[in-house]
Amino acid sequence: MLQRTLAIVKPDGVKNGVAGQVIARIEKEGFRIVAMRLHHLSRAEAEGFYAVHKERPFFGGLVAFMTSGPVVVMCLERDNAIAAWREIMGATDPAKAAPGTIRKLYATDIEKNVSHGSDAPETAAVEIGYFFSGLELVG
Ligand code: CMP
Repeated sequence: MLQRTLAIVKPDGVKNGVAGQVIARIEKEGFRIVAMRLHHLSRAEAEGFYAVHKERPFFGGLVAFMTSGPVVVMCLERDNAIAAWREIMGATDPAKAAPGTIRKLYATDIEKNVSHGSDAPETAAVEIGYFFSGLELVG
């Protein structure tokens, strides 16, 4: 089923110069990039995006990290895009990520884990709408 997901190259990925490699992998894996932008999140934007985690002990650190530098935010389209992108990223904690996954290859730790992907169709719709207007979704 053709599906869309939100993907983010987080500040560590941009800072460490692997955004291009992540985008190349996205293309190699057969995703169509529907929208893409470089964006430096404000504190309010990061808090809003991660609102579901606001009671978690790592929330403050996560917001500080996500506002520490620019991110590349993308809307991706492919058959089974949500699960496929999560599998390609690997486990949230890079120590537990499978060989060859983006997080195994490039991530530092469970917070600085290079990439984000939506976890379900409902959250994908909300997350895509958080960053992109309808007019920015191409094709
Ligand atoms: P992401 O998939 O974007 O969703 C929430 C993020 O919170 C997650 O990736 C990590 O960057 C971060 N995160 C999740 N668990 C922890 C943790 N235990 N400690 C620090 N950061 C975490």
